[in-house]
Amino acid sequence: MSAPKKLYIKTYGCQMNVYDSERMAEAMGGAGYVETRDVSDADMILLNTCHIREKAAEKVYSELGRFRELKDARPDLKIGVAGCVAQAEGEEIMRRQPLVDLVVGPQSYHRLPEMEARLAKGEKALDTDFPEEDKFEALKARPKARRGPTAFLTVQEGCDKFCAFCVVPYTRGSEVSRPAGRILEEASGLVERGVREITLLGQNVNAYHGVGPKGGDWSLARLIWALSEVDGLERIRFTTSHPNDMSDDLIEAHANCAKLMPYLHLPVQSGSDRILKRMNRKHTAQSYLDVIGRIRAARPDILLSGDFIVGFPEETDADFEDTLRLIEAVGYGTAYSFKYSTRPGTPAANRAQVDPSVADERLQRLQALLTRQQREVQQSMVGREVSVLFEKPGRQPGQMVGKSEYLHAVHVVAPDIRPGDIARVRISESGANSLAGVLI
Ligand code: SAH
Ligand code: SF4
Ligand code: F3S
Repeated sequence: MSAPKKLYIKTYGCQMNVYDSERMAEAMGGAGYVETRDVSDADMILLNTCHIREKAAEKVYSELGRFRELKDARPDLKIGVAGCVAQAEGEEIMRRQPLVDLVVGPQSYHRLPEMEARLAKGEKALDTDFPEEDKFEALKARPKARRGPTAFLTVQEGCDKFCAFCVVPYTRGSEVSRPAGRILEEASGLVERGVREITLLGQNVNAYHGVGPKGGDWSLARLIWALSEVDGLERIRFTTSHPNDMSDDLIEAHANCAKLMPYLHLPVQSGSDRILKRMNRKHTAQSYLDVIGRIRAARPDILLSGDFIVGFPEETDADFEDTLRLIEAVGYGTAYSFKYSTRPGTPAANRAQVDPSVADERLQRLQALLTRQQREVQQSMVGREVSVLFEKPGRQPGQMVGKSEYLHAVHVVAPDIRPGDIARVRISESGANSLAGVLI
């Protein structure tokens, strides 16, 4: 038997890409590949890319350029591009970078092994279809090996919302929800392999509407309740949600489902109704605040997270002040903020752009406010009891690191704790990006 070939995967972008990379590695396992962390050792390099902002896409080309020497030294090294850049500009990648042998879009990962067989014959392969067959079904076989205590599980893919700035509806296609029975099976398989916390993923995860195991239409809340019955699964999370899809049953699950963690990422993008309208977000600042109010009434300790874009075309100082006001009104435990990046083919691309230096200044002010809020929320944890799911050893001897219910990183000196253990911890200190505590 010949030695297995080595696959090196580098992942950019969102958690759905992280999940997809795992599944691609598994699919290639069936074609005789094992994963390597050493790029110089690889027979095949796969970049799983992100197209969300211009910089993310440009990174792919500069990274590819760096593989030239490797390929010169080993002409049979295969180089592939997967993910959202592959979907958006597959043919252009092939033209611009002759080093690339393979381009595969996010909906075609199950076809990777056949594509690899074509590469072995010296051909190139490009597949950016939105095929009829279900890639999740085709990728079903999963190994039985033990794995870490947390896992992602994609339940929904694609987006029909068409925010004016965003490429996702084009790169990931329209909304598709996986059948609930399949998700429950996959979750049970993960739990058998040692997983105790699952984060359900979707570009619009709370718009999930899958077929139930006995037919009918299941909402995300119904799926969460069913998952909460899986023995050994201790924690459930989901991301990313859209404010307009925060249904009553999902809010109720936050109140009553003990395994659903008190953390919610709910992007709003802007606090200005004028800009929200121009963004095609289909909600107002007030309707967002109303949703937040209902969620907090159901689960008062929930930690809220958001996404913000500054410098969207035509954003004025007054619009920006509205965004700051909304942030003050919510009080985020954590948040992600970005300078608007023009994406070719999206409706906002041709509108009057904000001066980049103005956008930079706004981003700094916004981030200063969000950082202050994050510190305050973290500081408010000091003295409180939390439960921590431990994931790995920390930097100090005897130290273990894990996550609280609120997704704060917590480190504790506890030599007897193993990855996968859940323990009560009293928080003693708040650092820059993590909390320290002692076992109770
Ligand atoms: N489906 C999710 C996430 C979309 S992408 C949602 O609707 O929230 C993640 C974040 O990237 C977005 O929330 C937005 O804040 C940011 N983003 C998307 N397109 C962008 C662009 N063209 N420029 C800057 N930020 C962008
Ligand atoms: Fe993009 Fe808007 Fe869809 Fe989120 S809801 S993926 S921001 S189009
Ligand atoms: Fe990026 Fe595609 Fe995710 S564009 S954010 S990798 S859906």
